Amino acid sequence: MNSIRLRPLSHLFLALFLTFAAVGRSSAQTVGAAPAVSKEGVAPGATAAAAPAAAAGATTGDAAAIAAGDALFKGNCAQCHAVNDVVVGPALGGIAKRRPLSWIIPWVKNSSKVVASGDDYAVKLFNQYQKQQMPSFQLSDAEITSIVSYITAEEGKSAGPASTQGTGIKPGDNTGAPDASTGEAGAGKYVDMLLIVLVVVLIVMVVTLVIIANIMKDVLRGRKDLDGRDVELIEQRFDFAKIYKSPVVRGLAVGLFALVVLYESVQGVMAIGLTQGYQPTQPIAFSHKLHAGEHQINCAYCHTSVYKSKSANIPSANICMNCHSQIKTESPEIKKIYRAIERKQPIQWVRIHNLPDLAYFNHSQHTQVGGIECQTCHGPIQNMEVVYQYSALTMGWCINCHRETPLNTKGNGYYNNLVKLHETANGAAPFTVSSNGGTECSKCHY
Ligand code: HEC
Ligand code: HEC
Ligand code: HEC
Ligand code: HEC
Ligand code: HEC
Ligand code: HEC
Repeated sequence: MNSIRLRPLSHLFLALFLTFAAVGRSSAQTVGAAPAVSKEGVAPGATAAAAPAAAAGATTGDAAAIAAGDALFKGNCAQCHAVNDVVVGPALGGIAKRRPLSWIIPWVKNSSKVVASGDDYAVKLFNQYQKQQMPSFQLSDAEITSIVSYITAEEGKSAGPASTQGTGIKPGDNTGAPDASTGEAGAGKYVDMLLIVLVVVLIVMVVTLVIIANIMKDVLRGRKDLDGRDVELIEQRFDFAKIYKSPVVRGLAVGLFALVVLYESVQGVMAIGLTQGYQPTQPIAFSHKLHAGEHQINCAYCHTSVYKSKSANIPSANICMNCHSQIKTESPEIKKIYRAIERKQPIQWVRIHNLPDLAYFNHSQHTQVGGIECQTCHGPIQNMEVVYQYSALTMGWCINCHRETPLNTKGNGYYNNLVKLHETANGAAPFTVSSNGGTECSKCHY
């Protein structure tokens, strides 16, 4: 009889356990839901960016013209012009308001003719830009008009909801990327906050439950109608000395310790010679995020040999001077380039990626023939302020990819016969790099 009344005490522990489990599950659910939140965070950003483009499209021309203008701008003008920034030439934002189409069209077709004609605006601009001649373009009137529509649409973008949201992202293809990252960062903070709140709630709950349990014990102690077993239950205590002396517990502790030491040392040994994450400070604060990301300068504009030869070269100072003879000439970082040129000494960039001499790696084989994106191996370079080694560059890393990646055989006559032979020999198995001998030692070792 009496022991039935006592059960709530043991039930208390069960209740405590269940509460922990329930809270744990609900927190797992909210953590699981977080990516969905961040996805939603991205979606409105994307539509917000698209909306003004559509709105501008309604006034300046149809979406097709803007798309055509986008392609033409990127192909012909982007290396010297941006919409909102001065690059080599002036920022083109607001050009439709500044100049009539009847001026812009002949200008793009042949700017030096416009300058030679003595047009006041053109002469002034030409002098302002150190008499640099803009190249002539064999574009039709319609094509130039579409470029202007594209520029007008892009201005709309930066003045639209995208910037009022405070993202301050420059227009361009990479609008989505920073949006996504801010969304993720937001979600990350949100999850952190949630975890902190949960931990606090759990601590408060544990303390409350301990207090309740003690009060109940006191109440029960005051009662006279308890039998011996019940009293024993109430007076039960944790005997730490007993637990400490228990051989099972000691064995477990020693075993756990040994496992941790073993794991750490294996990790340490495996990491010998690994330089993943290596991010040295460079002599000039050159930013890939700014150049390759925001200004969308093609990787091969600087790493000129990456599609043609074994190694991707690091650009010499004269490539920098294509732009920096005009841009940011007063910046102390840029002056370092001038100093290197004056002294006739190369800029001493610190090398990041470096395979040992025993291994052979060829860029053109991977980028040109294999069609692999730089980012697959080098990570999101276009977002890196300072470059770091993204991949492990171990032999296992090379081999894994060779086992998994199908050969890019389309339009490559060299492979026609090999593909046929592979199909007759192996049926439907994919024709990977390794089926073509890409895991043979001598392919990568001299
Ligand atoms: C090699 C660099 C270069 C390229 C490529 C280039 N421009 Fe220019 N652009 C300039 C420079 C420099 C100026 C400033 C005037 C000058 O010095 O001739 C200029 C001026 C202009 C102006 C006048 C800007 C103003 O504020 O009034 C327009 C419009 C223009 N460019 C349009 C284009 C278009 C459209 C394209 C692509 C089809 C293009 N440019 C490609 C260098 C370039
Ligand atoms: C405006 C010129 C320029 C452009 C464009 C550019 N890079 Fe670079 N890159 C450099 C310079 C200079 C260095 C050496 C300094 C450094 O590491 O930041 C470098 C270094 C690197 C390195 C590290 C090399 C090493 O030491 O191991 C990688 C990888 C790289 N770039 C990849 C890329 C990729 C991928 C792109 C295109 C998304 C790109 N770069 C675009 C100039 C450029
Ligand atoms: C195709 C044009 C182009 C080339 C080539 C180029 N840059 Fe730039 N660079 C830019 C532009 C545009 C900016 C941004 C200027 C601004 O913020 O107003 C910039 C900014 C910089 C800055 C930041 C300057 C500051 O004080 O804010 C540094 C440093 C720099 N570049 C270094 C280099 C180096 C080193 C090279 C050669 C490896 C190089 N750039 C090649 C266009 C170029
Ligand atoms: C299949 C993987 C892979 C791809 C794709 C790739 N790289 Fe590399 N990259 C490497 C490896 C590995 C090294 C180290 C090479 C060495 O030390 O010999 C390297 C080194 C570099 C270097 C340092 C200079 C050098 O050649 O050692 C630059 C710069 C570079 N890569 C740029 C690029 C650019 C730009 C692209 C895209 C056009 C690209 N890489 C694509 C794997 C790759
Ligand atoms: C992201 C995937 C990827 C990684 C990582 C990669 N490779 Fe490759 N590799 C390829 C592909 C795809 C080809 C086949 C290109 C072709 O010929 O069509 C290839 C081809 C080769 C070849 C020529 C093989 C032949 O049969 O002629 C060599 C050599 C090679 N890789 C070396 C390396 C080395 C060394 C590394 C590591 C430092 C490496 N690769 C990392 C994808 C990769
Ligand atoms: C796809 C390219 C590739 C193939 C195929 C390949 N290796 Fe390697 N191997 C590498 C690379 C890259 C390294 C350097 C890894 C590092 O620095 O961590 C390496 C490192 C090694 C090392 C370590 C050398 C040292 O001093 O650290 C040995 C040994 C080795 N390879 C043997 C072999 C043998 C044997 C085969 C054939 C069964 C083979 N490799 C096939 C790319 C390859």
